[in-house]
Amino acid sequence: MKLLVTGGAGFIGSNFVLYWLAHHSEDVVVNFDALTYAGNLENLKSVEKNPQYSFVKGDITNPQDVEKAMQGVNIVVHFAAESHVDRSIMDPSTFVRTNVLGTQVLLEAAKKVGVKKFHHVSTDEVFGSLELGSTEKFSETTPYNPHSPYSASKAGSDHLVRAYHDTYGLPITITNCSNNYGPYHFPEKLFSLTITNILEGKKVPVYTPGNHVRDWLYVEDHVRAIEMVLQKGKDGETYCIGGMTQDVSNLEAVKMILRLMGKDDSSIELVKDRPGHDVRYAIDWTKINTELGWSPSVSLEEGLQKTIAWYTEHRDWWMDVKSGTYAEYYTKQYQER
Ligand code: NAD
Ligand code: DAU
Repeated sequence: MKLLVTGGAGFIGSNFVLYWLAHHSEDVVVNFDALTYAGNLENLKSVEKNPQYSFVKGDITNPQDVEKAMQGVNIVVHFAAESHVDRSIMDPSTFVRTNVLGTQVLLEAAKKVGVKKFHHVSTDEVFGSLELGSTEKFSETTPYNPHSPYSASKAGSDHLVRAYHDTYGLPITITNCSNNYGPYHFPEKLFSLTITNILEGKKVPVYTPGNHVRDWLYVEDHVRAIEMVLQKGKDGETYCIGGMTQDVSNLEAVKMILRLMGKDDSSIELVKDRPGHDVRYAIDWTKINTELGWSPSVSLEEGLQKTIAWYTEHRDWWMDVKSGTYAEYYTKQYQER
C-alpha cells in the first residue's frame, strides 16, 4: 500500500508516520507537508533514511503539487491544517485557505486518481460547546455548531469530504477527535505550553476562570484509532474519538502537571479569556468501540507522566521551536492578557 500523509511533519501527523512505519513496514509512506511554523522534520529524523519513507515539500492548496504527489497513492490520510484556535482568532484567512480550499484540492486529486480510501482527520470542535456540569457528550449524530474560525473551517472541510462521497462516490472516512497531547506537540497548546513554561521557570497562562473542560487523549491512542478506521472503517462513515471518562477542568489539569513536576500552584497566572471560548467538550466514543473495538489505553496521569518525561529529555527540540517567530507570536498573544 502507498499512503499519502498530509501534514506528516506536524504533531499528530509525525506521531502517525512513526507509528505506521514501525507497525506496517511493508507500506510506503509519502509525507506531504508545506513546513509551516508547525511542521518540523526533526520529528522524523529517525525514519528519514528508511527506504519506505519519503518527504515531499508541498502546499495542499496547490493543485499541481498535490496531483503530482497523488500518483500511485492508494490511501490518503489527511492531517494538514492550521490547527491553533488562538491563531485563527488573530488571522482567519489562512485557516479558510488551508483547511477548506486545501481539503477540496486534495479531494479532487484523490478522485482523479481513484484512491481506495481518503481519511479525513477532524476535530470535536465542529460540534460547538456543551454545557458546563452537564453529562451530555458529542457523538456522530450531534449537529455541527462551530464557534471559532478554526472550527468553522474544519466544519467546512468535513462537509466537503462528505459531499465528495455522496456526489462522486469517493471512499471516505472521517474521525472527529478531542484534544490530543504527547511528544512533538507544538508548545503553543495548553499542555505543551504549560510543561515547557514550567521547565523554563515561567508563569503558566490559564484563560479565566479556568473551569473550561477538554476531553484529553494521549496522541498514540488517536493514532491507533485512525489505524483501526483505515483497516476496518466503513466508507462514508464518521467516528468520534475521545479519552476521558470524567470532566477535568483546565485548572485541575494544569495543577496535575505542576504536581507531577514537583511544583506548587504559584506559577499559575489567570489571564484574559479567549473570545468565543467553548466551555466544555466530551466525547461519546461508543461507535468506534463497538464497531471497531477501539478504546483509549492511556490514562490522563500516565499520559502526562510520559509527556513530561519527553519534554524533559527533548529540551533542544522545544527550545529551538520556541525561539524566533514563536517568541513574536507569544508576546502578541499574551501581552495584553
Ligand atoms: P499541527 O499544527 O501540529 O500540524 C499541522 C501540519 O500541517 C504541519 O506540519 C504543517 O506544516 C502542515 N500544513 C499546514 N498547512 C499546510 C498546507 N497548506 N499544505 C501542506 N501542509 C500544511 O496540527 P496537529 O495538532 O498535528 O493536527 C493535525 C490534524 O488533526 C489537523 O487537521 C487538526 O485539525 C486535527 N486535530 C487535532 C487535534 C489536536 O488536539 N491537536 C485534535 C483533533 C483533530
Ligand atoms: O478539541 C480538539 C482541538 O483541541 C483540536 O481540534 C485543535 O487543533 C487543538 O488545538 C485543540 O484546541 P483547543 O483550543 O481546545 O486547545 P488549546 O490547547 O489551545 O486549549 C485547551 C484549553 O486550554 C482551552 O480551554 C483554552 C485553554 N488555554 C489554552 C492556552 C493556549 C489556556 O487556558 N491557556 C493557554 O495559554
